Amino acid sequence: MFRWVKGVRSFSSAASSLLADATTAAKLRQPASFQVFRDVPPLRQLRRKLLKNDRTVGFVPTMGALHEGHISLIRQAARENTDIFVSIFVNPTQFGVNEDLSSYPRTWDSDVEKLEALNEELARVEAETGSGAKAGRITAIFAPTSKVMYPTLPPSSEIDGDGSFVTITPLSTKLEGGSRPVFFRGVATVCMKLFNATTPDRVYFGQKDVQQTVVIKRMVQDFHIGTEVRIVNTTREPTGLALSSRNVYLGERRRAVGLTIYRALKAAEEAYLAGKTSRADILGAARSVTDTVLAEQHALSKTERSLFEVDYISLADPDSLEELDFVDAAKGGVLSAALKMAPLEETKPGEDCGLGDGKVPVRLIDNLILHPKA
Ligand code: PAF
Repeated sequence: MFRWVKGVRSFSSAASSLLADATTAAKLRQPASFQVFRDVPPLRQLRRKLLKNDRTVGFVPTMGALHEGHISLIRQAARENTDIFVSIFVNPTQFGVNEDLSSYPRTWDSDVEKLEALNEELARVEAETGSGAKAGRITAIFAPTSKVMYPTLPPSSEIDGDGSFVTITPLSTKLEGGSRPVFFRGVATVCMKLFNATTPDRVYFGQKDVQQTVVIKRMVQDFHIGTEVRIVNTTREPTGLALSSRNVYLGERRRAVGLTIYRALKAAEEAYLAGKTSRADILGAARSVTDTVLAEQHALSKTERSLFEVDYISLADPDSLEELDFVDAAKGGVLSAALKMAPLEETKPGEDCGLGDGKVPVRLIDNLILHPKA
């Protein structure tokens, strides 16, 4: 049963002064099958109790705006643990000063609804299978304020800003780090804090954010964090577009053109599967897709087209993320890309332009693993 545990006061008092905390305690929907924690000490108390009872905790960190990708992480956690902790925290330090922190979707009520429905589904499936196999349940949501997560200094998003940060270099400077210099510092820092608060047996991350998975694995290894990092396959729309909380801003036109990122990566993967190993051949296949689509879009009118910029298309080593000139077929590689979908220039009456009416630029990232060949 939901209990308003200690820590809620610090949530309500700090929320008004902190820009990343979009909702107040009074407005929050109250879930039925798990506890919501606003502060660390009561969560630790629960964690100790679970440990004494030989229960295992799988932790799924999120920034909310939950979609099927998050749900698939929780399902996997439920297969491997008795208890699941989910965090919902839009972490300010991983957004650069000019990035979309204020417009990042905050959907507490529907997030809680989805988690409740999932707990019901887990109970139902367990009862129906009747095999005695137990599925874990979501026991705790950790939804701290920025003040709880960054207790001594206001969080800085400046590159040379002060603060207690975890930096994982050079991994954090590559790919996404090229255009988002504070991103992985923010991710590593918040994950270190979240792991310290939850001390999970296992943590779950989506393959979609491949660089994030590599950075987190490195952090866990280098700092001797006692948890196992589990990576779950990317969940995609039927078209192939990877699910992302930011997809709500795309609308129909940009959604269709945004699929170019997946088509480009698939073309590169096909080249590898057909026996190509050089960077020129593999990435050339991807570039040919993005160049063709971009030329087609430029030829259309402003009410029909959707322009984008390719930030990068990369072929890298799976552990170091160093760019590869050739893929060693015994080791494989990682193909990844980022597209910046520009705002729509002109819209048509009644057009589905997504949240923000097509005015919000959307960064799409995706990747495919080039598996080693026997
Ligand atoms: O992948 C995300 O949603 C975020 O980067 C994470 C891991 C929750 C840290 O804020």
